[in-house]
Order: sequence, then C-alpha cells, then structure tokens
Amino acid sequence: MTSKSHRLILPILATALLLGLPLAASAHEGHQEDMSDAELVQMEMQEQGRPVNHVADHHDGDRHDDAGEDHHPEGAATEDAPAIEPLTPEQAMEAAIAQNRASSVSDVLGRLHPVAAHFPIALLLAAAIAELMLLVRPSTGLEVTSRFLIAGGAAGAVVAALLGWIAAGWRLTDRSETLAIHRWNGTAIAALAIVATWLAFRSESRTALRAVLLVLAIAIAAQGYLGGEMVFGPNHLGIR
Ligand code: HEM
Repeated sequence: MTSKSHRLILPILATALLLGLPLAASAHEGHQEDMSDAELVQMEMQEQGRPVNHVADHHDGDRHDDAGEDHHPEGAATEDAPAIEPLTPEQAMEAAIAQNRASSVSDVLGRLHPVAAHFPIALLLAAAIAELMLLVRPSTGLEVTSRFLIAGGAAGAVVAALLGWIAAGWRLTDRSETLAIHRWNGTAIAALAIVATWLAFRSESRTALRAVLLVLAIAIAAQGYLGGEMVFGPNHLGIR
C-alpha cells in the first residue's frame, strides 16, 4: 500500500470511531474505582433501592428471601424485630445471580440480542468505509472485502433483529417511543441489508449499492444510540 493510501486510511478510521461513539457504554464509576464484582453488585442494588437488607442476627443461610420487603429504616431495631443491616457484597452477588436466572429458552435468546447487535453495527459500518475507500481510490482492491462485510453484516442484522423481536415482544406498536423507533428501524435495517447483499453480488450498479450503504450506516449508528438509550437511560451519552 502506498503512503498516500495510508494518509487516506487515518481520517476514515477517525470518522468510523466518531460514528461508533454513540454505541459506547459510559464507563462504570465502580470499575474506575477498582471495586470487586460483588461490591459493584451491592452498590448497584443499593442505588436502585432493590432489596438489600436482612435481619442482622440471623445465622448464615437463615436469610428471608423477601428480606427487602422489610420496611424498617436501615439499622433500626424494634421490640419485635431485631436490627437490620445491608447485605454483604457476597450476599448481594448471590441474590443478583438468583434474580437474573433465565426463565425459558426464549428468555435466553432475547438476552442475546445485545451480543448479536455488535456484528451488524461493526460489519455494515466497515462495509461503508470499504466502499468509501474504493470510491476515493479504486486501486485499494477492496471489492471482495466489501462483499464479505455486506453479506456478514446482513446476516448479523437478520439475527439481531430476530433476537430483538424476542427481547421486545411480538407486537406492532409500543408505548415506549424509543422502542418503537428502534423496533422498526432495526427491522428496516435487516431488510435493507439483504437488498445491499443482492446489489453487492448481483448488480452492476455500484452507485445504488453505495447509496444503500450510506443509508444503512446512518440508520445503524442511530440504532446503536437508541439501544443505548433503552439500556443505559435517557441521554446516556450526556450530550443532550
Ligand atoms: C439491526 C438490528 C438491531 C441492532 C443493530 C440493535 C442494536 C441494539 C443495541 C446496540 C442495543 C443496546 C444493547 C446494550 O448495550 O446492552 C439494543 C437494545 C435493545 N434492542 Fe435492539 N437492535 C436491533 C434490532 C432490534 C429490534 C428489531 C428490536 C425489537 C423488535 C430490538 C429491541 C431491543 C430491545 C428491547 C433492547 C433493550 C435491551 C434488551 O432488552 O435486550 N432491537 N439493540
């Protein structure tokens, strides 16, 4: 590769990085403070006000499963109820593992949606970059790479969309605006990515393929952002 091509790659990679930014999760403060897994779980439970208290003078293993439903203020002892104190990190960890246990196969499949989502995001964005490089410098010879990325991205989008429907539930409308846009944008991405694959393998028109890839790149960046909004909360990147 020539030094000119190298100069071309850097700005393109920087653009890709910026496009990918909305997909990045905000770093958890606890990880920055080097807390243990169990300490993190304990802190998150406390922050969310989830059940963390138990009767302090119980023997190990004698803890109420519904311990958090005891509404005495933390540490306050009454005549008929002994003092309560927060779960230890290890107890919080155990409780979280039990709470998160999957209830069915479709429950597990739905939970795999975030894992699957990374493939179409990365592959379709990389395909758009490959096409951009081909447009600027055809000698890069990325035609086969581009086809590989588009086909892989389309397969990933179909799987991610399917798992998304399982995660979100099978209905046509949602009360959550964010989920509604995410649902139909994601479904459209999967359909459009199949069209892009057809164009990449069967059509002579590179312009049509590039136009579709441009739309896909924008739609998938928005899709990642909306996914983050649902998982990490409104304005999860803090940019609004
Ligand atoms: C190409 C298609 C799709 C992509 C790339 C995508 C991407 C994402 C991303 C990045 C997240 C955040 C995951 C995380 O960080 O934990 C997310 C969450 C979510 N997505 Fe999608 N999504 C797609 C399609 C869909 C579809 C079609 C639906 C519904 C029909 C859907 C429903 C959900 C739900 C409910 C969440 C919240 C987390 C969960 O419950 O698993 N997604 N999505």
